[in-house]
Amino acid sequence: MKVLIVGSGGREHAIAWKVAQSPRVEKIYCAPGNAGIGQIAECVPIGAMEFDKLVAFAREKAIDLTVIGMDDPLVGGIVDAFEAAGLRVFGPRKNAAILEGSKAFSKDLMKKYHIPTAAYACFDSASDALAYLETAKMPIVLKADGLALGKGVLICNTREEAKEGVKTLMLDRQFGAAGSRIVVEEFMTGREVSVLSFVDGDTIKIMTSAQDHKRAKDGDQGLNTGGMGTFSPSPFYTEEIDRICRETIYQPTVDAMKAEGRPFKGIIFFGLMLTEDGPKVLEYNARFGDPETQVVLPRMKNDIVDVFEACVDGTLHQVDLQFEDNAAVCVVLASDGYPEHYEKGFPIHGLETFQGKDGYYVFHAGTKLENGQFVTNGGRVLGVTAKGETLRQARANAYAATEWITFDNKYMRHDIGKAIDEA
Ligand code: AMP
Ligand code: GLY
Repeated sequence: MKVLIVGSGGREHAIAWKVAQSPRVEKIYCAPGNAGIGQIAECVPIGAMEFDKLVAFAREKAIDLTVIGMDDPLVGGIVDAFEAAGLRVFGPRKNAAILEGSKAFSKDLMKKYHIPTAAYACFDSASDALAYLETAKMPIVLKADGLALGKGVLICNTREEAKEGVKTLMLDRQFGAAGSRIVVEEFMTGREVSVLSFVDGDTIKIMTSAQDHKRAKDGDQGLNTGGMGTFSPSPFYTEEIDRICRETIYQPTVDAMKAEGRPFKGIIFFGLMLTEDGPKVLEYNARFGDPETQVVLPRMKNDIVDVFEACVDGTLHQVDLQFEDNAAVCVVLASDGYPEHYEKGFPIHGLETFQGKDGYYVFHAGTKLENGQFVTNGGRVLGVTAKGETLRQARANAYAATEWITFDNKYMRHDIGKAIDEA
């Protein structure tokens, strides 16, 4: 069969790599893709938001299944556009992708269906939000309602900071229209865990857990980024916590969406905080995580195309989802200066070292080919993943593999997976 993947990051490279393992797949296209994806798929220069062009392309090439990696097209209704054209597509429709697209929607859903999350209030007006902050407990968290490239969250330690934050989000509109409404939320403490799942509208199958490192610098210092590295599984996500999450969060979320007339098919990514009062939902995403995917999919045993199709067809209950009993660590190699200012266009050396090395992967995020040479082309450049029998072994392997790659201004965190020493 022919598969089209929509997106261009390390996550889509990992999805494409996993799809390529399927004996059922004869050809993979990726729109728009990147230079690394171009080694295993044919990249087509169509943007992820160009729905009409993507639909026309899928028709012309007789694509059997399209997989949407990114949030923007999902929230914008790409799945509805494909379905209207009679094309098979993996991902939530617009009315379900709102689970990620609107934080106010997701908070109201959790409240209505008693799914554990931080206490909150929603505001459409800056003056009401400012009045609320006069008596609210600090620290406090402000979130732009809409999509803001993962950056519309402000953690405020003082009342002054919080008031400034309301101005930034609602009056200065630093994150655009995403800030026309905000969620003001109780600050929670605990360990964060990312849990991805496949959902077919009724049934949910949980993937192995992972943990991201969002800040740019060692020790969780520096600015928020798209993610600087991940490990899987999380040793803090115990069987007992898994049991509680299945009972109070996972299936209840799927049932709630169905009850609201918004059946969810696709990936639900649960961003969880393991608090003293039990696991609570930080956020929902309607897609795979980046760079969580780069540690989760290399450990997945199933043919992912079978699982995608079971979600589309509503037969996920028949799937026995299995993961290897090992561990994986991904270290992101970035351009120095990310997430602010950085230079691009430097030649990347050493990529060939990964060829034929079992359990080692290099997923491209921001690269391009220039006269046959891979060069840096983004803030996050590559994700180096390695597996190991234990998390410690996987971490040692991943850091050893980061040394195989060189490029000017190469930057990485040196403490990805350090938390496992505390487990
Ligand atoms: P989100 O985009 O909602 O996942 O928020 C981004 C990051 O902000 C999360 O990964 C957490 O580290 C942090 N965060 C979000 N909400 C809260 C909260 N209520 N309490 C503490 N930290 C939070
Ligand atoms: N790694 C966090 C995310 O994909 O949203």
